[in-house]
Amino acid sequence: NNLRDLFASDFRVGTALSNRSLSGSSPELVSLVQKEFSAITAENAMKWELLRPTLTEWDWQKADRLVQTGEAAGMQVIGHVLVWHSQVPDAVFRDASGAPLTASATLARMSEHIQHVMDRYKGRVQVWDVVNEAVDEGNVWRKSHWHTLTDGAYFPRAFEVAHEADPAAHLLYNDYSMHIPEKRDFILQQLTRFRRQGVPIHGVGMQAHVHLEDPSIAELERSIQAYARAGLRVHITELDVDVLPKAYEYMGAEISKSFAYSDALNPFADGLPQKVADQLARRYEQLFRLFLKYRDDIERVSMWGTVDGESWKNDWPVRGRTNYPLLFNRDGERKSAYHAVANLK
Ligand code: XIL
Repeated sequence: NNLRDLFASDFRVGTALSNRSLSGSSPELVSLVQKEFSAITAENAMKWELLRPTLTEWDWQKADRLVQTGEAAGMQVIGHVLVWHSQVPDAVFRDASGAPLTASATLARMSEHIQHVMDRYKGRVQVWDVVNEAVDEGNVWRKSHWHTLTDGAYFPRAFEVAHEADPAAHLLYNDYSMHIPEKRDFILQQLTRFRRQGVPIHGVGMQAHVHLEDPSIAELERSIQAYARAGLRVHITELDVDVLPKAYEYMGAEISKSFAYSDALNPFADGLPQKVADQLARRYEQLFRLFLKYRDDIERVSMWGTVDGESWKNDWPVRGRTNYPLLFNRDGERKSAYHAVANLK
């Protein structure tokens, strides 16, 4: 059996493909993905700086390969991501002389990008993360170039342009920490306001980069309920469970990102102790039990990667750690966490 069939009547189970897999260098991993999952996302390939390194150069190779890989196995293909403050060249926000764009020029550049990317995959990519991470710590709009250059106008406009480009596409607002009550309430308030004005926002993506104990199931549950009650479809878009000590600390509203590697931040370099593997399996079991409880509201649960060795969590926020956040080990074998999830069915 496999996850896609086990959960077929509940929600899609998806994963993300790394650039390495999309460059054709791990065909076994791609077959594993096609066998186990019913949705795929590009971990990086559709981000602005990879798709379009300069304003005049496009590199579609890996993105095309993602779409073909999904279609070949009857999977849903998710577009990630159209508008984000990260992994986007600085030149996007400047004119030919290097001066910052005006508001209308910024909106035009964003719209042109959305239209061009969505046109290429019209009818083949069914779901888009239209805007990613627009809300910052402290529950305010993130002061990204998109936001500051357009005084916030970019947000609703992105959805309107995406809807025009492909009226059949399902459009998401995607973010992390979607469970934190203050952030959740801010997002709900804004999305509800825009939706009342007719802005086509169909669902939310809860990234779900979680830890072994944090956030609590109860907090996640309250958030799923709140988004669903507001009429939004819920997608769990980037699930992984970090088993390592937290390398960052919340310092007021700011996250300090200047860490250096230390052995204390890499306690499982020689393998995951049984006790932690058990904890991880229980954590996954509880998470999927929650998702099953809300199967009517949840459209999809996507992992942010397939095998532990390829997870971004080995390198974030500190390089060179050995993490175990996913359902398959470094050899592509099912972990106890996988079985804990599968056994729920
Ligand atoms: C991450 C990728 O996994 C890394 O390979 C890359 O270096 C940085 O981005 N939120 C998102 C994803 O929406 O696009 C990010 O992916 C993880 C956090």
